[in-house]
This record gives sequence, C-alpha cells and structure tokens, in this order.
Amino acid sequence: MKKYDIVLAPDPILKTKCDPIERIDDEMRVLMDDMLHTMYDAEGIGLAAPQIAINKRLLVLDVDQGKDGERGKPMVFANPEIVWSSEEPNIYNEGCLSIPTHYAEIERPKIVRVRYLDYDGKQQEIEADGLLATCLQHEIDHLDGILFIDYLSNLKRNIIIKKMKKMKKNVQAL
Ligand code: NI
Repeated sequence: MKKYDIVLAPDPILKTKCDPIERIDDEMRVLMDDMLHTMYDAEGIGLAAPQIAINKRLLVLDVDQGKDGERGKPMVFANPEIVWSSEEPNIYNEGCLSIPTHYAEIERPKIVRVRYLDYDGKQQEIEADGLLATCLQHEIDHLDGILFIDYLSNLKRNIIIKKMKKMKKNVQAL
C-alpha cells in the first residue's frame, strides 16, 4: 500500500474547494485504502484527500482505534454532504494532521446526518454523534478548503500560521 506525504498548512492546496467524485471504481478504492493506510501511519483519526494533495471529495476516518494504531472501524466517505445538523452544539479540542502539535476548542453541531457514497459506490446515510460527528464535520470542511483554525480569532490563527511556517522551513532544511 502506498503511504502519501501529508500536506502541511499553510498551503494553497488546503484552501481549495474539491471536485465531486464521478465514479467509485477500483482505482478509487485503491486510493481509499492508501488514505486509510496513510492516516493510521500518521496516527490520525481522520484524513481528507486534499491533505495528500488530491483535489477530490473523499475522506477516511476511524474514531474507534486502539492506542497502538490498532484498527477499529475504518470508514470511507465519498461526496459527503451534511443533510441535517442539530441546534445543540458540542465543543471538542480539535487537532489536524496538517497542523501538527496545535489544538483548539471548536464548537460545532453535536449531531449531524451525512449522505455519502461508500466503498462500493452505494449511497448511504449516517447519523453521527459525539466524536464521529465532530470528525466528519472537520473532514468535510477540508473538502471546502476550511481548516479548524479558520474558526479562531485572527490573532490566534495568525500565531499558529506563523509557527507552522517556521516548522515547515525547519523541515525543509533537514
Ligand atoms: Ni484536519
């Protein structure tokens, strides 16, 4: 399986709206498997295609992983769409593989209903609550070029972006 490099913020790739997937075929399933492999390897609970520089509306997640990266319930969502969200909010301390070591409390709807295409290209609908709901909304945001730091004040966001720029410079220097 292929392991992709994860795009770090700030990067224009992460600010681009992704295109819908036209067909779930074997090539797409290989990409889904590779994204899961990349996500587990990076010890993340979710990964969206733009984070590996692919401009497609595709995300993977697993919010039931064991501590040692042991697989819980891997899930793939193609063309996900939020069709309903609760008025009741929930706050979660979010992080992102594209913004490593930075976390912030973000408020989002507690429950969402999401329509999507699954691994076999079948249309499904899921009602998600708790961490799954937060993770889905965070990853769907990625498909629209939105990062969790976009919900912070300009001041807080700029501090994180400045630190990320510095971190990227150091990574490149290695
Ligand atoms: Ni993220």
